[in-house]
Amino acid sequence: MPPTNHSLFRRKTIESILANPPADADGHGGGGLARHLTVRDLTGLGIAAIIGAGIFSTIGQASLNGGPAVSLLFVFTAVACAFSALCYAQFAATIPVSGSAYTYAYTSFGELAAWIIGWALIMEYAVGNIVVAISWSDYFTGLLDGIGMHMPSWLTTGTQSAYSGYEQALATMQDGGKLTAAQEASYVLWQNAPKLFGDFHLVIDLPAFLITVVITALVYVGIKESKNASNLLVLLKLVVVAVVIAVGVFYVKPANWSPFAPNGIGGVLKGVSAVFFAYIGFDAISTTAEECKNPQRDLPKAMMWALIICTVLYVLITLVLTGMVSYKELGVGDPLSFVFAKVGLGWFSGLVAVSAVFAMASVLLVFQLGQPRIWLTMSRDGLLPPLFAKVHPKFHTPSFSTIITGIFVGVPALFLNIDLVVDLTSIGTLFAFALVCGGILILDPYGKSTARFTVPYINGRWLVPVLLLVVAVLVYVYNADSNHELWLDVSGARGWLREDETGKITGGFAHQIPYLVFILATLALAVVTFVRSLSLLPVLGLLINLYLMTQLGVRNWAMFFAWLLIGLGIYFGYGYKHSKLNRPPAA
Ligand code: ALA
Repeated sequence: MPPTNHSLFRRKTIESILANPPADADGHGGGGLARHLTVRDLTGLGIAAIIGAGIFSTIGQASLNGGPAVSLLFVFTAVACAFSALCYAQFAATIPVSGSAYTYAYTSFGELAAWIIGWALIMEYAVGNIVVAISWSDYFTGLLDGIGMHMPSWLTTGTQSAYSGYEQALATMQDGGKLTAAQEASYVLWQNAPKLFGDFHLVIDLPAFLITVVITALVYVGIKESKNASNLLVLLKLVVVAVVIAVGVFYVKPANWSPFAPNGIGGVLKGVSAVFFAYIGFDAISTTAEECKNPQRDLPKAMMWALIICTVLYVLITLVLTGMVSYKELGVGDPLSFVFAKVGLGWFSGLVAVSAVFAMASVLLVFQLGQPRIWLTMSRDGLLPPLFAKVHPKFHTPSFSTIITGIFVGVPALFLNIDLVVDLTSIGTLFAFALVCGGILILDPYGKSTARFTVPYINGRWLVPVLLLVVAVLVYVYNADSNHELWLDVSGARGWLREDETGKITGGFAHQIPYLVFILATLALAVVTFVRSLSLLPVLGLLINLYLMTQLGVRNWAMFFAWLLIGLGIYFGYGYKHSKLNRPPAA
């Protein structure tokens, strides 16, 4: 009998996956899925997953920090996504089964990395859905208010947001300052909230929880008409966004675009996680490889189309929003309807809010469908208990995984602050994208694969060092303020960690650790690229994703590492032993 493979890097071979395509959630085994998706369907699916809370909600805070220049950040981020999309596409062409980054990592980096990526994908799908549920609630309660049905604030605000608002109000009062209207509202809300068990202030976001329950129930019973419903919703989203642009443009006052970057590059980069969040979802297209008519040809095209369409819309919408009102007013949870109320178009604002409620529900649906399927696959590989692969006898859906996903999304949505979950989603997804780009560098560093789609090979030997040099010079010349800040932090002049009065980390040596590590990693990668003539595009994809990760602040990194540690604990406590690859192959 052949020996058991105990290596942490044991890999599934592409041949073995292709020989035994995994059964899908409906229990269809070995490649039994109908191949009917075309480029148009796939592009629609991408847009269904992409356009959601990012553009309807988190763009508000990003615009507040960065001003109109956030539109440029959308372009930069789209480029990072495009490089990752090409790598996803090559994997999907190489392993055209209903996989995900998890399956790809299993073949390129081995089991441990596959587990880590699967674990990080929970951040993209499930934690991302917490964001969407909270944003949905913002629009929904705004709508209810609009028709005179006011839910008490203690039922529509997350505990964490309410408490931090209260703390800020308290700090202002202790300093003898005057409370702003928002601070006063937070103070009153926290003080007057009902109390449980003596001193637990009951302030929760109930609509966010309830929409998660409804969507989870739909996913649980299986939605046969999902494709048609999703196509309709995609159309609705595109129409809303296009109409917002077309109507909004008449209310633009170009004076609002000046200054274009009021808080400099630093202010724009504060929006990284919000802007990146707006693009998350295009990778969901790659999970349908088994159901495409021609995955090798159509998947790359569809990903690119979805990215291009969304980027154009995002850039235009950012310019319209920041042109209609001053960027300073955009720090709200429902900016798209807010701006129209602001310019006196109350009815139109209501219409946008109604559409947003449906549009965001469709993102919830896509991710709430996706997460259980990843768990199902991991469970079938033996990395999670068999219960996660349980398929409902009547509905043919992964019943247990679906319920767990519902709890995982719905319960935190009651309590957590949206900024925190946006950051976590973005850092986890950027990490997954970086690994996918790195996976191509391992699997096919010279673009020699015979798969029907490969990332176009451009020799990075000279281009990577030259590009890095150009960027370094530009940063040195045009980013003097940030360079100075960096120097103050790195030289130790600001100590280990510096926080502002709201508890936000603004400097200190620790704050720069991710960036410093990134610089070292970039130099190392440049050397390897030079020596081994690696393929340019995956290298750039890897570097840009890592760079965006460095902009997410040391506190998010700490939480991300904590998350990874928990994941590793589970892997070594369970998955390593129970993995199918740990069992001796049948003689
Ligand atoms: N990109 C998706 C959204 O913005 C996750 O909701």
